[in-house]
Amino acid sequence: MILRPVLLGRNFNEYVRMFNLNEDLLGNKILDVASGVSSFCAEGNAKGYKITASDKIYNLKAEEIEERCKKDLDFMEKHLKEKFKDSFNWNEFNSIDDWKKTRERTYKTFLEDYKINKGRYIYTIYPKTQFKDDEFYLSVVGHFLLLYDNIFDYKFHKETIDELLRVSEEIRIFPVLNLKGEKSLFLDKILNDYKAKIEKTDYEFMKGGNKVLIIRR
Ligand SMILES: C[S@@+](CC[C@H](N)C(=O)[O-])C[C@H]1O[C@@H](n2cnc3c(N)ncnc32)[C@H](O)[C@@H]1O
Repeated sequence: MILRPVLLGRNFNEYVRMFNLNEDLLGNKILDVASGVSSFCAEGNAKGYKITASDKIYNLKAEEIEERCKKDLDFMEKHLKEKFKDSFNWNEFNSIDDWKKTRERTYKTFLEDYKINKGRYIYTIYPKTQFKDDEFYLSVVGHFLLLYDNIFDYKFHKETIDELLRVSEEIRIFPVLNLKGEKSLFLDKILNDYKAKIEKTDYEFMKGGNKVLIIRR
C-alpha cells in the first residue's frame, strides 16, 4: 500500500505525451506542479522553453533528494517485480530494468540542473503557492492530484485547483486514474464543478491511464 506520493519523475518526452503538449502550448510560461525529480523543467529550459518547477522537496539539498529518490525507486522496482507488473503496459519500456534506467537518467538530469539553476525550482507546499495572479498560462500536474485520492481529499483537490486557476489559465492533470488503476474518486465531481474536459493521450504506461483532464477558467 502506497501512503505518500513517491519520489519518481518523468522526462520531457513523457510530459509532452502525458499532457498532449504542442509547440503552441510549450511557447507559454508553464508551471510544473509537484514536479519532484522530473526532468521536464531541466530539459525544457535547455530547449528554450519557460518552465518553473514547484514541489515541497525543493528546500532540500540535492544529496538528500537523491538519497530519498533512490529508496523510492528501489521500493517501486520491488513493487513492480513482486505484484504489479501486469498493471502496466510494457510497450512504453522494454523491461523493468529499462524502466529503472529511464527513471535514473531522469532524476540525474533533474539533479544536475537543480544544483546550478536553483531559481527555477520553487519550494511550494500545495494547496498554496507564492506565485502571482496569471504568472503562467498553463499548469501541468503529473502523478499528484487524482492519482492519490487515498491521501488527498476533495477539499485539497479543490483548493489546489482554485489556486492553480489563480496563477494560470489552464490546468492539465495526468493520469485520471487512482493508484488502484480505477477512475479517480474525484474525477466526476471535478468535471461537474469546473469547466473541464478529458482528452486521450498516446502515453499509456498504467493500463487504461491514457487520458488527461483539462480544466480552464
Ligand atoms: C509521483 S511525484 C510526481 C512527479 C512528476 N510530477 C511526474 O509526473 O513525474 C509526486 C510529487 O508530489 C510531491 N508532493 C506531495 N505532496 C505535496 C504538496 N502538498 N505540495 C507540493 N508537492 C507535493 C512529492 O514531493 C513528489 O515529488
